[in-house]
This record gives sequence, structure tokens and C-alpha cells, in this order.
Amino acid sequence: MPTWLIIVFAILGTALVLKLLHALSIVAVHPVTQGAMYTSTGRVKIRTALDAVPMSAGELLVDIGCGDGRVLRAARRRYGVACRGFEINPIAFLKAALLTAGRRGIELRFRNFWNADLAAADVVSCYLFPDVMRRLGEKLAGELRNGARVISFNFPIPGWKPQRTLRADSKLHNDPIYIYRIPESLPGQNSNP
Ligand SMILES: C[S@@+](CC[C@H](N)C(=O)[O-])C[C@H]1O[C@@H](n2cnc3c(N)ncnc32)[C@H](O)[C@@H]1O
Repeated sequence: MPTWLIIVFAILGTALVLKLLHALSIVAVHPVTQGAMYTSTGRVKIRTALDAVPMSAGELLVDIGCGDGRVLRAARRRYGVACRGFEINPIAFLKAALLTAGRRGIELRFRNFWNADLAAADVVSCYLFPDVMRRLGEKLAGELRNGARVISFNFPIPGWKPQRTLRADSKLHNDPIYIYRIPESLPGQNSNP
């Protein structure tokens, strides 16, 4: 067999194995993620969200379900804030660990965020799934302090009132981005007292 053909087969084989691992990892953690599978937010959406949520150095951004860690790296680059990511999918976690290796100010936890206390977060970012958003709203309402902001890509938190709903200036990545603030966005808060 010619060498070039062996190289083509090796590349295709590796790509196939990686795809399979990716799919398997999503299936394996499904009982925890409940549909919030590993996929990444478009960079233009991350830029749009960060533009709308200014942060000061010294604040903490937490991405619950950080995937490959791109939101963390973008926020760190943009505002110099401390960043923490929770991720339960081993492939996503490995990718995030490789891509953030050697960067200061970004901490990754291979952990189910439902079991973590998010009280220290100044900004929580998420891109999850409709099935978990109501429960997430209850968790965030119980743990976040006044002044904390929440960025939710694609899916709203039921009953919460967004401060802003944005769309990136992109035909491909124009799903909504919801920005909330505690306590104004919480259910039952009257914004016109
Ligand atoms: C749609 S991806 C978003 C990734 C990243 N935040 C982004 O915007 O590019 C959702 C991620 O959340 C993770 N995830 C879902 N539920 C989780 C949980 N309970 N604990 C930790 N990670 C979770 C999934 O494994 C997946 O990687």
C-alpha cells in the first residue's frame, strides 16, 4: 500500500475515533447534563455577551458547563477577571485543560455544578438546555448575591425578567443571549416601584 494511502487512512481513522469518543462522552454524562450536551458557543456571541456585561478585575466569572473553556478565556482576556469553569464531560474537560494550560486566573473543576455553591460568583455564564432552566433559576436565586449577573446563551430562565436580550450581529450565530441581574430579574420583582 502506498505511504500516502496509509497516511490518509490514519487521519480518517483518528478523526473517526475522536468523533466516536465525543459521542460516547455525551451519552455517558447525559443523566447529569439532561440534554445540555457538549457543543460550543460561537465566539461572536461570546463577544456580544461580554460587551454587554462589563466586569472589573477582582470579580469572578463562573461558567457552569464550561465546555472547552472558551468563555473563560475570552472573559479573562477581556477583563482580567478570575474565571472558574465546571465541566462534567471528560472530553470537554480535557480540551479545556489543554487549551487553558499555563494560563493564570482560570480554574477548571471536573465536577457537577449542581453540587457546587455558586455564591462567590459575580457573573454566571451558561449555555444549557430548556429542561434544566427552571431548576437552575431556583438554584441561582438561592445562591447569588445582589449585583450578580447571569448570562444565558440561547435559553431563558423561566419566570425571570432579562435586563437585556441580545443577538450577535451574525447570520449564523443569532440565537438570543439573555442577561439578568440579581435582584431586579428575579420573579416577583417590580422594576417600576
Ligand atoms: C452547550 S455546552 C456549552 C459549553 C460552553 N459553556 C460554551 O458556551 O461554549 C454545555 C456544557 O455543559 C456541560 N454540563 C451540563 N450539565 C453539567 C453539570 N451538571 N455539571 C457540569 N457540566 C455540565 C456539558 O457537558 C457541556 O459541555
